[in-house]
Amino acid sequence: MTYSVAVSGASGYAGGEILRLLADHPDIEIRTVTAHSNAGQPLVAHQPHLRSLAHLTLQDTTPDTLAGHDIVFLALPHGQSGQYTDALADTPLVIDAGADHRLESSAEWDRFYGGDFHEPWAYGVPELQVGAGKQREHLVGATRIAAPGCNASTVALSLAPGVAAGVIDPSDIVTVLAVGPSGAGKSLRTNLLASEILGSASPYGVGGTHRHIPEIRQALVAAGGPADGIRISFTPVLVPMSRGILATSTAPIAEGVSDAQIRAAWESAYGNETFVQVLPEGQFPRTADVIGANTALVGLAIDRAAGRVAVLTALDNLTKGTAGAAVQSMNIALGVPEARALSVNGVAP
Ligand SMILES: NC(=O)c1ccc[n+]([C@@H]2O[C@H](COP(=O)([O-])OP(=O)(O)OC[C@H]3O[C@@H](n4cnc5c(N)ncnc54)[C@H](OP(=O)(O)O)[C@@H]3O)[C@@H](O)[C@H]2O)c1
Repeated sequence: MTYSVAVSGASGYAGGEILRLLADHPDIEIRTVTAHSNAGQPLVAHQPHLRSLAHLTLQDTTPDTLAGHDIVFLALPHGQSGQYTDALADTPLVIDAGADHRLESSAEWDRFYGGDFHEPWAYGVPELQVGAGKQREHLVGATRIAAPGCNASTVALSLAPGVAAGVIDPSDIVTVLAVGPSGAGKSLRTNLLASEILGSASPYGVGGTHRHIPEIRQALVAAGGPADGIRISFTPVLVPMSRGILATSTAPIAEGVSDAQIRAAWESAYGNETFVQVLPEGQFPRTADVIGANTALVGLAIDRAAGRVAVLTALDNLTKGTAGAAVQSMNIALGVPEARALSVNGVAP
């Protein structure tokens, strides 16, 4: 069966990566691409790397242009999706790359985002532990999916195995992330100019203010953590690489836990996964090895002197962190092979 698809936000980074992956998907026909200020222009004027889609023109993003497809991807600035999702009630599958349908708590939404709160959808990170199972079980047959925040999914995938197995103390999580500026989208901002970023590392969203904190907390509670006992110190740092996230997350080792039990928590969580891979002891990931791949590489260190576990995870914010997660979740929802149109291999150097 071939599914017709509309992708909104198609001139942006997330929309562009969704299109790159869908262009090679044998079950998908990309019928409509939409944008906002760039509507009316050829798609390739904004996504010149998408040669196979050179015949498409960006249309206005309206309920009418998006309706009538089997699947709609929303890749819009947060706060914009809700108005379309209501109008897409008849669309069999809607996948939102934005934050509008990620959070279960309206109080957290008000605190970190503000504006109208919309109901939470199935969270699009299939490998995350949820109770004794995996999030993919909640994506089978799903009709509404919220793709993750890129930083949030990196940290959640890093720590969920330790929280689920009870081998780390989630009340004292510290995570510092090196992130590429594509995570902030394509719109022009002074702090994202090459002259500001090249040759520099720039922290942002410091001191408990970053919007991905409640999303991480929610995922770690779903993994089995205490509802009111997860505390996260979260510091992202912009670094001069166009794509990629390297998250270094540490937490205290739980009392009486052996090194073997700690390693086993991550290896049993991800041992059967294609796209989340735990590296052998002593090896740690580089962002360069996951660019363009739907892969998260995880390195684990047990620092007995500090009494902490350190988890280092690298992924491509646009692939595994957004579009790859969205397409993988779509595959599960449709019942086609989960890895279809997704590559575990990156491009290097
Ligand atoms: N970048 C990432 O790594 C990443 C990761 C995870 C999730 N996300 C999420 O994905 C969504 C898109 O992010 P992005 O990085 O792709 O941003 P982006 O590069 O700035 O693209 C934004 C897109 O939305 C369109 N748009 C802007 N305002 C609009 C409006 N009022 N109505 C309809 N369309 C509008 C833009 O169209 P014009 O160009 O025509 O103005 C553009 O196509 C965001 O919610 C973001 O949080 C992004």
